[in-house]
Amino acid sequence: MIELDFNNILYNVLGPSHSIGEPELNNAIKDNARICREIQDERKQGRHAFLDLPYQDVAGIISFARANAKKYENIVVLGIGGSALGARTLLEALKPPFYNLLSAKQRKGFPRLFILDNIDSAETKALLQVINPKKTLFNVVSKSGETTETIASLLVTLGVLKKQVGKNYRKNLVITTDKEKGFLRRFADKEGVQSFETQKEVQGRYAVLSSVGLLPAALIGIDIRKLLKGAAAVDNMVKTSGPQINPAYISALVNFIYDREKSKNILVVMPYSAQLKAFAEWFRQIYPESLAKRYDWDNKEVYVGPTVMNALGATDQHSQIQLYNEGPNNKLIVFVEVETTKDKLIMPKLDDESSSFLAGRSLHELMLIEKKATAYALVQSRRPNYTIRLKEISEESIGALLYFFQLVTAYAGKLYKVNPYNQPGVEAGKRATFGLMGKKGYEKEVADITNAISKDKRWIIKI
Ligand code: PA5
Repeated sequence: MIELDFNNILYNVLGPSHSIGEPELNNAIKDNARICREIQDERKQGRHAFLDLPYQDVAGIISFARANAKKYENIVVLGIGGSALGARTLLEALKPPFYNLLSAKQRKGFPRLFILDNIDSAETKALLQVINPKKTLFNVVSKSGETTETIASLLVTLGVLKKQVGKNYRKNLVITTDKEKGFLRRFADKEGVQSFETQKEVQGRYAVLSSVGLLPAALIGIDIRKLLKGAAAVDNMVKTSGPQINPAYISALVNFIYDREKSKNILVVMPYSAQLKAFAEWFRQIYPESLAKRYDWDNKEVYVGPTVMNALGATDQHSQIQLYNEGPNNKLIVFVEVETTKDKLIMPKLDDESSSFLAGRSLHELMLIEKKATAYALVQSRRPNYTIRLKEISEESIGALLYFFQLVTAYAGKLYKVNPYNQPGVEAGKRATFGLMGKKGYEKEVADITNAISKDKRWIIKI
């Protein structure tokens, strides 16, 4: 289903600088192997809870989706960060590109899916005009149930629904949030709005394979059991194989060695598939938000963490590759390629010599060749890269891919010696927003902000 090709990081391919020698890699694999056991042991004590998501009971989600999906023209997810990126990844990977532009018949009666993960007025207003709110199910997703942006979007939506639908507006809402805590839980219970529970121990950015990502996916007809089957296959593989052939562990280790020992603190994820563009954005959240930390487990100030950039092949060959090939050699590039596609588009022959090399070949073949050519050019410039290869895009392979990268993140947490499940760096901005918006209990923040913000007119320069 998935294979990893690490050849282009090795000494015998990349030459002496910027590579990892095989003995060095083998030693690192041996020296750190205990982290594989640690993760499995800690899992038994309830930690790394995302690892057990493949085995959850999804009957409730499936029956809700079966009963409701085709009643609506649109699903709109209101959420942000981990509460939105997973659903977008599943939509883009597993539904045809431009899915929302297809007719209802082409969509087999399933609704369109929009993800509103911002509080931009123009975008929000435009979306509420593009859809008919009466024919829309709004899935409000927030694990904490307290996220300002999500609550703001809900309030705006409620205003519209109450006006257009009247007292039956509850039928247009479904909430995914904590079982007990938070504003959204209180709102759902008080208003009698249907709701799903988030799994307590599964943090936001690890929640794509929980109710957070699975409900919107099921509502547009994605087979969520197959997604979980793919994830379970990865789990099974890593549980039953030794560290030397555990691709998630080796991937985390290679990323870590490049960051900490070879001055490559930028990790570029570059899928050669438009369907995986959102996946790269999902990864851009989970990896650095989990690993970039001021303090390590021993409370020592460390300021660690990779910078993740996302790119798209072949598009970004005409935007980013100049930087990767000739700019500072400070990046490790991870390609994701898809071996086969059922969408075969063949280029016809023209009466013109200059395009004849393309004639009779498929777009997909060209895509794969361009990736190969780019990887080759990077090797020539001594730029390390490795490839994750999916056989095809399917529910199973996407479930496997997402689970795989969550696992890579958990292993990397061990290597960086940080807690990959918190995000204290996000909190300061949240508290400041509460203060500036006048939320009770945040008066101190307002005073601090007022003192801290300088308004020196000399440094406000007008055109
Ligand atoms: O990974 C995380 O925990 C965050 O990115 C959250 O997903 C994000 O802040 C949204 O939080 P919530 O789901 O509580 O609204």
